[in-house]
Amino acid sequence: MKKSFIKYTGVLLFGLFAFTSCSSDPDSPGLEYMPDMYRSPAIEAYVDYGEVRGRIDENKKVQLTALTPPEFTIPFYGTDSNLVKTMLPYQHLPNALMKNTHGLFNERLSSQDEYTLAAADKINGVAFSEKVIEKGKKIYTAMCQHCHGEKGDGNGPMVTSGAYNGVPNYTEAQRMALSDGQMFYSIYYGKGMMGAHRSLLNKEEIWTVIHYIRSIQYKDYAKTGKIAFTDTTKTK
Ligand code: HEC
Repeated sequence: MKKSFIKYTGVLLFGLFAFTSCSSDPDSPGLEYMPDMYRSPAIEAYVDYGEVRGRIDENKKVQLTALTPPEFTIPFYGTDSNLVKTMLPYQHLPNALMKNTHGLFNERLSSQDEYTLAAADKINGVAFSEKVIEKGKKIYTAMCQHCHGEKGDGNGPMVTSGAYNGVPNYTEAQRMALSDGQMFYSIYYGKGMMGAHRSLLNKEEIWTVIHYIRSIQYKDYAKTGKIAFTDTTKTK
């Protein structure tokens, strides 16, 4: 009597287990007896924790959980196509000769003279305005001034401390003759002792800082947005 009771409850329990543990949804793991074994409680690098099981937390949405993204990763900047365009890589590759002149390593090089193409580029999508100059100044102060100097004379603290040299003076005739595109190119890919800035600044920011460099080179640029070639000898 007792034995068969155990036998029958055993069969009943097994039956219950067998019939409830599966589900008709082929993607479902069925009943989870130990959810921690199925779902890692650890923070996962590429999971958006702004939405967990249908609950939305605006503060956590589209936030980086991985600490450092791979080099040259293009950040997600929404769906505004103009903004997204400024985040995409520069379209002109370095010319094969740039290995010597710009000291480029591990770059995809082009057999065409893309540097000339770059030189022909116009200030790209960033029109002159006094606001742009202000923004350019901020970028310049944070990212360039320690080498290039407040006045663009190549005497930033990195240079005057003796730690570093070879930084050009922006007001030398040779530098003033640089086209916007050439400046863009050197800032984007780096040149000689100056590292590439493409992983630090997006295209829009690079064009913005070029506006600011022009305002260092040409006295009236910050007001007029025009390069007055004839002024350069008189302003000194
Ligand atoms: C670590 C120091 C350093 C930093 C930081 C730096 N530069 Fe330079 N930059 C240099 C040196 C050195 C050169 C000279 C490269 C050469 O001609 O070999 C140079 C050259 C240039 C040139 C001339 C390029 C050419 O084609 O002749 C421009 C324009 C320029 N830098 C802009 C910038 C801007 C804008 C920033 C900030 C976003 C910046 N640099 C940050 C060191 C630096």
